[in-house]
Amino acid sequence: MRAAIFEAVGTPLGLAEVSLRGPRPGEVLVRVAACGVCHSDLSVVDGSFPSPLPVVLGHEAAGVVEEVGTDVTSVGPGDHVVLAPLPSCGDCYFCMRGQPTLCAKYSVSLFTSLLADGTSPLSRGDEIVYRGLGAAAWAERAIMPECGVVKIDNDIPLDVACVLGCAVQTGVGAVLNTAQVEKGATVLILGAGGIGIAVAQGARLAGASRIVVSDPVEERRDAALRFGATDVLDPDSDNPVTAAFELTGGIGMDYVFEAAGHASLIEQGIMAARPGGTVVCVGAPPLDQGISIPAVVAFSASEKKLIGCLLGSVDSQRDIPKLLAFWRQGLLDLEGMITHRLDLAEAEAGLDLLRNREGIRTVLTV
Ligand SMILES: NC(=O)c1ccc[n+]([C@@H]2O[C@H](COP(=O)([O-])OP(=O)(O)OC[C@H]3O[C@@H](n4cnc5c(N)ncnc54)[C@H](O)[C@@H]3O)[C@@H](O)[C@H]2O)c1
Ligand SMILES: [Zn+2]
Ligand SMILES: [Zn+2]
Repeated sequence: MRAAIFEAVGTPLGLAEVSLRGPRPGEVLVRVAACGVCHSDLSVVDGSFPSPLPVVLGHEAAGVVEEVGTDVTSVGPGDHVVLAPLPSCGDCYFCMRGQPTLCAKYSVSLFTSLLADGTSPLSRGDEIVYRGLGAAAWAERAIMPECGVVKIDNDIPLDVACVLGCAVQTGVGAVLNTAQVEKGATVLILGAGGIGIAVAQGARLAGASRIVVSDPVEERRDAALRFGATDVLDPDSDNPVTAAFELTGGIGMDYVFEAAGHASLIEQGIMAARPGGTVVCVGAPPLDQGISIPAVVAFSASEKKLIGCLLGSVDSQRDIPKLLAFWRQGLLDLEGMITHRLDLAEAEAGLDLLRNREGIRTVLTV
């Protein structure tokens, strides 16, 4: 089959013929229809997240089931599905404690670029091709574990549903699952790319009273206003920390979401949060970036909370149908997040749009 393959840092993605083996017991072979371009893919390509190479990336996808392995009961050929790059087994230590994104069986796949059994279904001649970021869906087909496909109704356009796979699950999940933002809360979002826009939509769903979005790109600030922001800031001219206090009568924000992937913004978020407020790290800064908390005693005494967030703490089998129900009720805008559509062969051009901060989400149609 054809796949957009990433061979080495500094070289552009190109289409190549690779082999994909058929589904083993408990696995599903999906014909990919559409897959979004996320900054986490770009971080691998630009070398911020080192990955074994060559690798097929793409983890925000939807498609049609083509074949299932033995023991698969929940889906069959012809079913439309959203791919879940981070599924959960349901019975490990973490799943049993209601933390499905930490699943001991499946979360490692994100970092090893292999299936849970330590192998890759992809190859090229004698060479292994890695399965990037839990799906390897910048390809005509993908092998997923059964729990990694979520069945959806056939009338839902697949090139719209795909954004649920990462951006929307992550952003809305960060608000509803990770932070559990309550009605009336004040929210500051640092970064308004696909993830930040989805956080804004989540905050609107949660009934936040004030949704302040900071992004240096005017087009993205304008977009944020369409997706629920009540106020926007340009960090190049407005100090988000000062603004956070001005907009809340000197109290500070109840919740701050870092959604740009810059560690320094987490420090900014800690400053902007009110005493007792929560800072959620959604962005994924390069591996070599850290944060420091000066005067930790002030952090402790103000009872602030700093929490990590992997894929919106979602249980994809539970949350994707829930998000689609919000979409059907007009409470969640998926179509509006997709600003560019390109062919699979144009994956590199999709990455360029992200690098240039153009549009919100680019979807590659396969
Ligand atoms: N936690 C997770 O599970 C998860 C899932 C998906 C993506 N991510 C990460 O989330 C981050 C965002 O992803 P994306 O696809 O939305 O990327 P993106 O590139 O589309 O968006 C990032 C946005 O941050 C803005 N920005 C840059 N500097 C800023 C500043 N100083 N203040 C405010 N905004 C600033 C950019 O203008 C851009 O609009 C990435 O780091 C990505 O790897 C994390
Ligand atoms: Zn992603
Ligand atoms: Zn598990």
